[in-house]
Amino acid sequence: MNKKLKVSLLFGGKSVEHEVSILSAKNVFEAINKDKYDVSLIGIDKSGYWRFFTDAKILEQKSIKSIAKNHNGFLNPDCGKVLVNSDVVFPVLHGTYGEDGSVQGFLKLINKPFVGAGVLGSALGMDKEVQKRLLIQAEITTAKFLTYQSSELSTINYHAITTNLDLPFFIKPANSGSSVGASKVKNEPEFMPAIYEAFKYDNKILIEEFIDGREIECSVLGNSEPIASIPGEVVSNHEFYSYEAKYLDENGAVLKIPAKLNKITAKKIQELAIKTFKVLECSSMGRVDFFLKRDGQIFINEINTIPGFTSISMYPKLWEATGISYSELIDRLIELAIEKFEKDSKIKTSY
Ligand SMILES: Nc1ncnc2c1ncn2[C@@H]1O[C@H](COP(=O)(O)OP(=O)(O)O)[C@@H](O)[C@H]1O
Ligand SMILES: [Mg+2]
Repeated sequence: MNKKLKVSLLFGGKSVEHEVSILSAKNVFEAINKDKYDVSLIGIDKSGYWRFFTDAKILEQKSIKSIAKNHNGFLNPDCGKVLVNSDVVFPVLHGTYGEDGSVQGFLKLINKPFVGAGVLGSALGMDKEVQKRLLIQAEITTAKFLTYQSSELSTINYHAITTNLDLPFFIKPANSGSSVGASKVKNEPEFMPAIYEAFKYDNKILIEEFIDGREIECSVLGNSEPIASIPGEVVSNHEFYSYEAKYLDENGAVLKIPAKLNKITAKKIQELAIKTFKVLECSSMGRVDFFLKRDGQIFINEINTIPGFTSISMYPKLWEATGISYSELIDRLIELAIEKFEKDSKIKTSY
């Protein structure tokens, strides 16, 4: 009998999406085939400290409690051993310090295959400004935007913005997720509070043209020859698809799978999802989010390199509807991690 592959799941993390990550990890843990994989649970608390958990009950917790005080390093010794012994690591982390290339860089340094995009793809997927600049260069349509650093705060002027962008517009942190820090601004009194709110979560913000369209999402899977799922649609019952609509309000949003689209539009969405995935140097998985205007114009909103895996999440649901079950999806993601690792391992590091 073949030996089981040792898979470490990483979850929690130093991110506003800590709680969401635990919900995602719970679902991945439930769906992963335990006859094939020996699964270890590594929870990262909000201070960024890594710990090994032997009991899956940790996945029932809302957050991972800090055991605080004087840690040596950033992980406990048990956790270090588990990581070194694992065959593959699956970071089920969303947002900063998890989806942005930092964990990916660490896993690369310790020479472990891992699920998801590498350092560059993760960083590009996270930074909405750099991401959009690359999309524009590849002639992929995305909403018009302006960027500000926190050091430029005193130069931000409502009247100057409104000569460039029509009302309403969006203000959001360049690096965030789950809609944290994002606001729709409809008038001048809402403007500065939205700026301050976005700057709480990043030192760089985007002020972006409002796109009045349907929100369509498409899952991508693969390395050099990625495939796209059937597209789905999110219909939010809030002002926009906010954190509340996503996770707090049970009736905050409805997922329509498949999205009601004509064949040509569905195909265009799938092609654009794959193109975006490639332009942004992604690998193994990504969920590409779109706006579809009534006149048929398609905009890319963003890519998520570690999309949600919660029970209401689009990424696995779209694959299920396309014919790949949750546990088969995890098998493929693990295979893709190993494939990429082996390919990268062939690169010469001596001359
Ligand atoms: N330019 C925009 N036009 C219309 N709606 C937007 C725009 N930007 C963001 N939104 C709304 O805000 C939500 C969150 O913004 P998004 O850029 O996707 O950030 P996050 O990475 O936090 O998901 C989107 O799903 C959408 O509902
Ligand atoms: Mg989004």
